[in-house]
Amino acid sequence: MEKFIKQNLIKAPSFHPYYEKAINEMLLAGGKRFRPKLLLAVVKAYEPLLIENAKYAAYAIELIHTYSLIHDDLPSMDDATLRRGHPTLHVTYDVVTALLAGDALNTYAFEVLSKAPFSSDVKVELIKTLSENAGANGMVLGQAIDCYFENKKLDLEELKFLHLNKTAKLIAASLKMGAIIVNLDINLQEKLYNFGLDLGLLFQVQDDILDVTLSSEEAGKTTGVDENKNTFVTLLGLEGAMQKADNLAENLKNELNGFDENLKNELSPLLEKYFYRHKNEH
Ligand code: IPE
Ligand code: IPE
Ligand code: MG
Ligand code: MG
Ligand code: MG
Repeated sequence: MEKFIKQNLIKAPSFHPYYEKAINEMLLAGGKRFRPKLLLAVVKAYEPLLIENAKYAAYAIELIHTYSLIHDDLPSMDDATLRRGHPTLHVTYDVVTALLAGDALNTYAFEVLSKAPFSSDVKVELIKTLSENAGANGMVLGQAIDCYFENKKLDLEELKFLHLNKTAKLIAASLKMGAIIVNLDINLQEKLYNFGLDLGLLFQVQDDILDVTLSSEEAGKTTGVDENKNTFVTLLGLEGAMQKADNLAENLKNELNGFDENLKNELSPLLEKYFYRHKNEH
């Protein structure tokens, strides 16, 4: 995946002194690539020969995710100075550059999908799934609620809605896009999507925990900044959030056991690392 990303960075040469470098910088800074890995695990389980083609879709998700991080870190959102072990773009350059880099990555995701080596029908399904889950009724909605309700307390149901939108839908879309590429039947697509929602909820609960248990240096991003936000830690306390994460992880393990053997074999090694991420030292 790293090689694919390097080979398919945005090309936008001009007389601007650093535009092209800045828009690609956060992609090159790394990250766990969790969402691309999920998509590729589904493809590998059913149609390993399609892996190379599937990288276009995996990359599209990573582009959307990376844009969401750049905007999330802006002074008007979470105001963070460190991301993926690097200074955030608005620190290295300025807010305008960070805003526009996010815009560029967001749009480029759909350019990449439109040029992917799939049938037009498959491409439309992929574009539909990614845009529905990342956009106005997905990640963007979650971010809007996250920011609007800073300093205003949500109840647990509302917090779940926030996390499902800001984080879980993109993770669920990653699994579903893998399922679309290998042409799984609708029921299995749904099952994977719902599993992804549960997984995404765990992922964000863990992220909320790591915000208070890791230093910025350990996390590679600015931590300790969620105090005024609605998180499982601010609503339930650290112990309560840990308990919630444990419960979600247990349920996910059971759900995973209900999948086909080949899917289980691909997803288990990847997910085992994530189920108890909240308990890890790093
Ligand atoms: C961070 O995502 C933002 C959340 C949705 C919690 P990741 O933890 O996947 O960040 P990277 O991609 O590894 O940098
Ligand atoms: C971010 O949630 C979710 C996104 C859609 C980017 P956070 O604000 O908790 O993510 P981090 O902790 O900054 O990575
Ligand atoms: Mg945020
Ligand atoms: Mg943030
Ligand atoms: Mg966080």
